[in-house]
Amino acid sequence: MTERLSVVDIIRRKRDGLTLESEEVRFLIQGYVQGKVADYQMAAFLMAVYFRGLEPREMTDLTLTMARSGDMVDFGDDPRVVDKHSTGGVGDKTTLVLAPLVASAGAVVAKMSGRALGHTGGTIDKLESIPGFRTSLDREEFFRLAREVGAVVAGQTGNLVPADKLLYALRDVTATVESVGLIASSIMSKKIAGGARRLVLDVKTGRGAFMKERKKAQELAQAMVDIGRGAGVRVVAVVTAMDQPLGRAVGNALEVAEAVRCLAGQGPPDLEELCVRLGAHMLLLSGVEGELDRAEERLRRLIRSGEALERFRRMVVAQGGDGRVADPGSPVLPAAPAREAARSHRSGWVQAIDALAVGRLAMRLGAGRERKEDSIDPSVGVVLEAKVGDRVEKGDVLGVVHARDREAARWGAARLEEAFVLGDVRVEAPALILETVS
Ligand code: URA
Repeated sequence: MTERLSVVDIIRRKRDGLTLESEEVRFLIQGYVQGKVADYQMAAFLMAVYFRGLEPREMTDLTLTMARSGDMVDFGDDPRVVDKHSTGGVGDKTTLVLAPLVASAGAVVAKMSGRALGHTGGTIDKLESIPGFRTSLDREEFFRLAREVGAVVAGQTGNLVPADKLLYALRDVTATVESVGLIASSIMSKKIAGGARRLVLDVKTGRGAFMKERKKAQELAQAMVDIGRGAGVRVVAVVTAMDQPLGRAVGNALEVAEAVRCLAGQGPPDLEELCVRLGAHMLLLSGVEGELDRAEERLRRLIRSGEALERFRRMVVAQGGDGRVADPGSPVLPAAPAREAARSHRSGWVQAIDALAVGRLAMRLGAGRERKEDSIDPSVGVVLEAKVGDRVEKGDVLGVVHARDREAARWGAARLEEAFVLGDVRVEAPALILETVS
């Protein structure tokens, strides 16, 4: 059939709202990676997809073709291996907690993670704030640590899903990033190439999320579950709120310290709630537990007993990091030289904390990157003292800015105060876990 395929026909068929054959999707994507399909043709195709959408089968074809465009990791059929992915948020340090936590229950988490970009952080940058921690691992070491420790987190290798790199760069300059089918295929292709056969997705929605509208987040969750079904990957997607930052800390070393507190049972309740829920789904998928309530209870026990924290220490040491980071109040993490509190200008209830504004603030302090090539400062960021639903009095500390110097700290504290919405009406702490798609 390949001889009969024409790029123009494929674009036309998508433009007219028809469903593409598997072979057509493969022909187009492989042709693009090989340089046989021009950028202008692929740009036209992406715009057609943007308007016409993709059927689940087309998304699966696109995902698998992209996943197979470069290196692939394969854990064979070890049922204990389970992965997780978050669509990205502010203060999202769940991987730091989840990898050792579910490993201490008997599952295996061997995860490839990304770096910070824009207002959202990246797990790799967070881990690299631990002195000595290596995220660049070769294949053999990655597999060995998965086997020996049960938890390993590494940066993505150079040749993982080259098709996604090419397509994403083109989407970025053709206003076609915001297509649910393309986003779902992009994310799932990287997870599948990274070896995921069982996957828990945290699809975030709200001001600080990639998907601002809940309906779009639900669509994305459903699309990724559908792709999983077609591709033989068991997927559970949990849609969670990202209107205010998760937990209290935003910034690399600050988030590592908060993850350690969470593993020691002293973390913010929202972070623990989310980690326990996502972790419980991971235990169900890996067959370690058979029921959600029991899985959650087991994870809480592993936190209380100190086993989860000890597994974190083992993971850090195995990847070359200073294991003392797991000691309570450990001084090994880099600390910013200047701190400034943001204080409340009135009494009232915290109605909202703009996660996007806090994420941008942390980025501008140096915790994140505006462009890929920017370097980051692991020590800077923000720690919130109040969260939505809390009562504050005039002059109370809303949060503390950690910065490179006094001037940046003062500037940041003023921005942080602006991110808070205070009012006279009492509000409840909002729900964090909104729904589950499986
Ligand atoms: N994240 C991804 O990995 N891909 C997208 O297309 C959008 C967000």
